[in-house]
Amino acid sequence: MKGKKIVLGITGGIAAYKSAEIASRLKKSGADVRVVMTRHATEFISPRTFQEITKNPVAVEMFADVVNFDESHISLANFADVILIAPATANFLAKMAHGIADDLLTTTILATPAQVIVSPAMNTVMLENPATQDNLKILKSRGIKIIEPATGKLACGTVGKGRLPEPAEICAYIEKFFDDDKNLNLRGKKILVTAGGTVEPIDPVRYIGNRSSGKMGFELAAASRRHGADVILISAKDLPVIDGVQFVKVESAEEMRVAVLSEYDTADAVIMSAAVSDYRVKNFSAQKIKKDADTLTLELVKNPDILKELGRLKKSQVLIGFAAETENLLEYARKKLDEKNLDMIVANDVTAEGAGFSVDTNIASLIYRGGTVENFPKMSKRDLAEKIVERLAKIFQSGE
Ligand code: CTP
Repeated sequence: MKGKKIVLGITGGIAAYKSAEIASRLKKSGADVRVVMTRHATEFISPRTFQEITKNPVAVEMFADVVNFDESHISLANFADVILIAPATANFLAKMAHGIADDLLTTTILATPAQVIVSPAMNTVMLENPATQDNLKILKSRGIKIIEPATGKLACGTVGKGRLPEPAEICAYIEKFFDDDKNLNLRGKKILVTAGGTVEPIDPVRYIGNRSSGKMGFELAAASRRHGADVILISAKDLPVIDGVQFVKVESAEEMRVAVLSEYDTADAVIMSAAVSDYRVKNFSAQKIKKDADTLTLELVKNPDILKELGRLKKSQVLIGFAAETENLLEYARKKLDEKNLDMIVANDVTAEGAGFSVDTNIASLIYRGGTVENFPKMSKRDLAEKIVERLAKIFQSGE
């Protein structure tokens, strides 16, 4: 962990004494460790101990020290590669879950772009309380990593779940996090993601559309962002914005094509999850079409195949396509992979239960250039997005 910058946050639980060994192990493994203690933590162990171990000043939230409050939380928040809270009390988890920032440590956490990892420690009843369980769920859903508390004898004399794991285990967890992060890191990569079904206007009121919900694309943009990429989401659907993702709203296939091409030269990867309309209406009517005639014929012309064009223009970009099929899934998907010069294609049978447009789950197979196929069981679109982005990170790695 040489050179890794770790902010170790210590909150006020009896297990705080074990944090000295955590700090010591992290320091010995080469990390630059800065300790921030809550006021309650100092009731259990002295800041001095950590100062000696880490050879760095310890930030303690005393009212007298609040002079440089703003500077400290911003500098610590930006300094950290990881913020580890060990032990994290029930009270502290509740504050984190609700965005309360009333001391240096909570404020630092709110202000940091770094991964936050918490190691909860408390008695079993507090841990199992629905309030604590809900708070842990909230934190997890926001990407905070949680080290499972251990089971054993607790400070209050009972035996159960809630112990702080041994310092060696906590440090092993952090080490593994850095290892995985190195492999899956997309920092510095520019990734374009397309989402939603394009809309092809017939007249100012009507359009031709499709059943794509845009969910898969939004999850892919969010997953790419979580892995540190610079993400541009070019979407024909409006869904809630994703923090840190640049959003470009388009309607038609042609608008999507222009938006994608304008960023393509400098992109490292494109994930085309949009359901692009294959045809558009040849003659757009500037006025609303009246229902005078008994039948109405619309002449459709073919839209450009955006992904195929990207495949032709490809330099070093990684291209990922989707194949939504209703039959001959792998055969058709393979054909698209070849014809569009892709590195990977996500094939799914949209007629299968639990897959397709309106549901939150998907059943997909990933086919790679070279022919390897990876089949996934039914999973949430969020989990599938995570898998796809992890595979993308591996493709980058193998090309470096
Ligand atoms: N795609 C595209 N431009 C189009 C049509 C599709 O960029 N005009 C992309 C999609 O975003 C997807 C992949 O190509 O990543 C395959 O899309 P799909 O609709 O499954 O296949 P098509 O190539 O349109 O072929 P078909 O409709 O005949 O199955």
